[in-house]
Amino acid sequence: MTENKINIAVLVSGGGTNLQALIDAEKSGIIKSGSIKLVISNNKDAYALTRAANAGIDTAVVLKSECGSAQAFENAISKLLDKNGIDVIVLAGFMSILSEDFTSKYPKQIINVHPSLIPSFCGKGFYGLRVHEAALEYGVKVTGATVHFVNEIPDGGEIIMQKAVAIKDGDTPEKLQKRVMRQAEWKILPLAVEKVCSNKLDRR
Ligand code: GAR
Repeated sequence: MTENKINIAVLVSGGGTNLQALIDAEKSGIIKSGSIKLVISNNKDAYALTRAANAGIDTAVVLKSECGSAQAFENAISKLLDKNGIDVIVLAGFMSILSEDFTSKYPKQIINVHPSLIPSFCGKGFYGLRVHEAALEYGVKVTGATVHFVNEIPDGGEIIMQKAVAIKDGDTPEKLQKRVMRQAEWKILPLAVEKVCSNKLDRR
C-alpha cells in the first residue's frame, strides 16, 4: 500500500508532541507522500513511544549507555534505519547531537525542528526550554520555529521552513514554548516533511 510513499523514521526523546503532529498530519492527508514506519527513542520512558504505539507504529529504544560509545549508538540507529528501508529521518525533539559520520551518510535526508528562528538561539546547548529562556533573557519581541536539514553543524543545515511567533508581556519559558509549538512547530514540521517527501517521490 505504501510502496509509492517515502518511508519515514522519527527520532524522539521526550513528550513527542511533534511526533503527534506528524501522526495526525499523515492521518488527515497533510502528509501524503510519506508514511511513518518507525519511531526510535534514546529514552525508554519517552511518552512519544506511547503515542507511536497508540498509532500502531513500530518503535525501538536505543540507549547510549547500553551501546557503550557514541559510535556504537549511531551504528545501532543506522542498522534500524537500513533494516526498515527508511528514506527520511525526522528529529522531533531528539536530544542527542549526531556526529558527522552519521549525518554524512544521509545528506538532505535528515530533518530537524528547532524552537527558534535560526540563526538565533541555536547550536550546541540550545534545546528545549533553554531556547525560550535565552530568547526571553535577550528580550527579542519575535521568536518562532525552524525546520531544517541536518548536517555536521548543530542547527546549521539548510533551512526548509520557518514561522514567526510573537513574544508577549509576562511570558515565561513554559508559556512561550507552548505558543511556539502550537503556532509554529506543529504546523511547519508536517508541511516541511510533506515538501521533502514529495520532492523525493518526484525524483524517483
Ligand atoms: C520541541 O520544542 C522541539 O522543537 C525541541 O524540543 C521540543 C520537543 O518537544 N527540540 C530542540 O530543542 C532540538 N534542538 P516534543 O517532544 O513534545 O516534540
